[in-house]
Amino acid sequence: MTTATAPVRRLGPADLEACLELGADRDWPREEHKWRLLFAVGQVYGIDDPRGGLAAVVVGTPYGDSVTAISMMLVAREHERRGLGRRVLGEALERTGTASALLTATPMGKPLYEAMGFRTVGQCATYGGTLTGVEPSGVSRPFTAADLPAVTDLDTEVFGAPRTGLVAALPGFTSALRVVDSPGGITAFGGAWPNTDTTVLGPVTAPDADTGIALLCDLAAAAPGPVRVDVDHRQPRVLEWVEEHGLAHRFTTAIMVLGPDFPADPARSITPVMLALG
Ligand SMILES: CC(C)(COP(=O)(O)OP(=O)(O)OC[C@H]1O[C@@H](n2cnc3c(N)ncnc32)[C@H](O)[C@@H]1OP(=O)(O)O)[C@@H](O)C(=O)NCCC(=O)NCCS
Repeated sequence: MTTATAPVRRLGPADLEACLELGADRDWPREEHKWRLLFAVGQVYGIDDPRGGLAAVVVGTPYGDSVTAISMMLVAREHERRGLGRRVLGEALERTGTASALLTATPMGKPLYEAMGFRTVGQCATYGGTLTGVEPSGVSRPFTAADLPAVTDLDTEVFGAPRTGLVAALPGFTSALRVVDSPGGITAFGGAWPNTDTTVLGPVTAPDADTGIALLCDLAAAAPGPVRVDVDHRQPRVLEWVEEHGLAHRFTTAIMVLGPDFPADPARSITPVMLALG
């Protein structure tokens, strides 16, 4: 068997090390905590290299039957440009079977996604560094298990598709998870999670940028060391805030969609959980 004839296989947590090694082949960091979440909430597909390890991998995380978040698209350097990327992604899309798919593309991934029919709908800028001049706002309180139904409903309303499994995994995945109460119930929530040597501030969902920034301040107060924040270009106030508080622009990715648009509310979506999950 060769990589050209090896089938696309659904991978499991036992394949985690092989995924990390394939990432290392492309100079991606060993994001073990993140991969474990992706194995728990998503479907990981790969093509084995008959000589050992993986030749290709991609993750599809379906949200109900409306949209799948695509991520971790990787083909080993020595097997690139032989159709493996197209094959493993095509099969992941077919098996997850939702009406639409969503991803954020690096410049290297974009030609493959365009060749498969994805269109660019926006841009997302990634910032990193140590936040300066940030004080806790006091508008939020820690999440409790009783908040899960309200947070799940709010996430579905704002994201535009039911991410029930992902939201249920957040209390175990995040290092801080907070909510904002109002007389009508919970109107905002935010989380932070550890990724290698950085704390990622996300997801943050809020009725307006000011509340989102207040939540970012509360999450940052509990985050030791450097942070990472991914900001959609449709959030100019938040872009301004990260730049004013010491974070540096690292890179920009294109937000791409395949299939029909789905009903999201970008105004209330302040930061994603991570680029891999929207
Ligand atoms: C992006 C990546 C997954 C592509 O995988 P691949 O197996 O080489 O892609 P394929 O051979 O299936 O390419 C399918 C089509 O995509 C387009 N394409 C893929 N790579 C391309 C490149 N470097 N330049 C231009 N077009 C490209 C072409 O249209 C190609 O069809 P063709 O070869 O018939 O012209 C691979 O280069 C990779 O792992 N890169 C590093 C990690 C990365 O950046 N991943 C994307 C994260 S968003």
